[in-house]
Amino acid sequence: MSRTPPPQEAGHDARRSRQWLAGEAHGAGVDRDGLLEVGAAMAALTAAAAEREPVAVAAAPVGVDPGTPIRKPLRPDLLRPLDTNAEMRWTALAGQGYVVPNDRFFVRNHTVTPRLDPDAWRLRLFGTGLRGAPTRDTPVEFGLDDLRRLPAEESAALLECAGNGRRFFADQQDEPAPGVAWDLGGVGVARWRGVRLGTVLRLAGLTGDAVDVMPEGLDPDYVTGGINLGRVRRPLPIAKALDDVLLAYEMNGEPLPADHGFPVRVVVPGWIGISSIKWVGPVEVSATPLFSPWNTQFYRMFGPGQPAGGGMLATQSIKSAFELAWDARVTAGEEVLLRGRSWSGAGPIDRVEVDTGDGWRPADLVAADRGGPWQRWTVRWRPPAPGRWILRARATDVTGAVQPDRAAPNDLGYLFDGVVRHPVTAG
Ligand code: MTE
Repeated sequence: MSRTPPPQEAGHDARRSRQWLAGEAHGAGVDRDGLLEVGAAMAALTAAAAEREPVAVAAAPVGVDPGTPIRKPLRPDLLRPLDTNAEMRWTALAGQGYVVPNDRFFVRNHTVTPRLDPDAWRLRLFGTGLRGAPTRDTPVEFGLDDLRRLPAEESAALLECAGNGRRFFADQQDEPAPGVAWDLGGVGVARWRGVRLGTVLRLAGLTGDAVDVMPEGLDPDYVTGGINLGRVRRPLPIAKALDDVLLAYEMNGEPLPADHGFPVRVVVPGWIGISSIKWVGPVEVSATPLFSPWNTQFYRMFGPGQPAGGGMLATQSIKSAFELAWDARVTAGEEVLLRGRSWSGAGPIDRVEVDTGDGWRPADLVAADRGGPWQRWTVRWRPPAPGRWILRARATDVTGAVQPDRAAPNDLGYLFDGVVRHPVTAG
């Protein structure tokens, strides 16, 4: 998939933010006052976090038996459960190829993985941006077979939760943030196969007036701070929707697994994970701007130095991880091949350096990965003596962005990009 999508989330977000604050919001289900109430709830959460209270944004499904939030087996050597989510263990990537196998791909669920009948499932497009302005009750429909008959595309794309690495705000910077305490495992690359969202929008009667597209998930409503925010949804500008966005029905050569959006999910390359709505059902196509709590209250940068109403959350930040256990044991005096991966939402990785205790040196990049959504690398290291050692990896992307020693803090703990200090013990 193209690594240079022309429509940048930043510009869109800044525009929509101004419109929302000016009271122009039109968002299905939750009005601006409702969102402001959620804002107050979030402010309380972040204030509590500042006082070091153990607070999390808890998911509470409505009207359903919560059951197990995740359907696939959570093998402890592959995945680490975190509330309704599970993160990939980086040791589970050692010896793997470019993509993350489905059994160890991270899961981020606001509530639970729903059971959907693929025969009854329909994509339902409606709104003022379609010819004849079909309503939510009289949508233009596509079944799974209809989508499968359309021209298919396959591409490797990276999905990452905006909160990936959040735990390091607390652990490395003494700046804890509320929410899921991801290590670095809220990320993965898969080969997605499906039909372009643009193809389906055009078939559904897209008009020149359409400005925003908002896919909605069929998982239970999300309730937080005592407020039902409705279905998980987040608008995309029409330019991005017509660019490289996929309606995916396969992941790594298999039908989309239940936890990853079966039967169909949206995949939005380069944008934060929340844009890639799973279990998509209704899709609003609108001639006026759309809003949802997921682009007004969450997934924004709040805190000192950020604008009133929150700063934009644009592309994913730049990160690096070792395919190594935390506190891994190595043998003093014996050479070990360290492996890892680096990635950035702003573009491919250009350079990776590693410090094993005696200064930065270049890592060897796997040539086949150049230009892709993430970059594998290796470095040889002979631990000189027994004891505790700190490994660090630092990437630079093609825009020249380099990982800082310290990430810029923000109240909700998004976009950690600092260099992670990875401890190992040589014995
Ligand atoms: N879509 C729905 N319907 N419900 C969700 O909870 N979580 C989002 C996104 N799409 C979510 C969703 C978030 S925050 C992320 S990071 C990605 O899905 C995670 O995708 P995965 O679980 O397949 O890894």
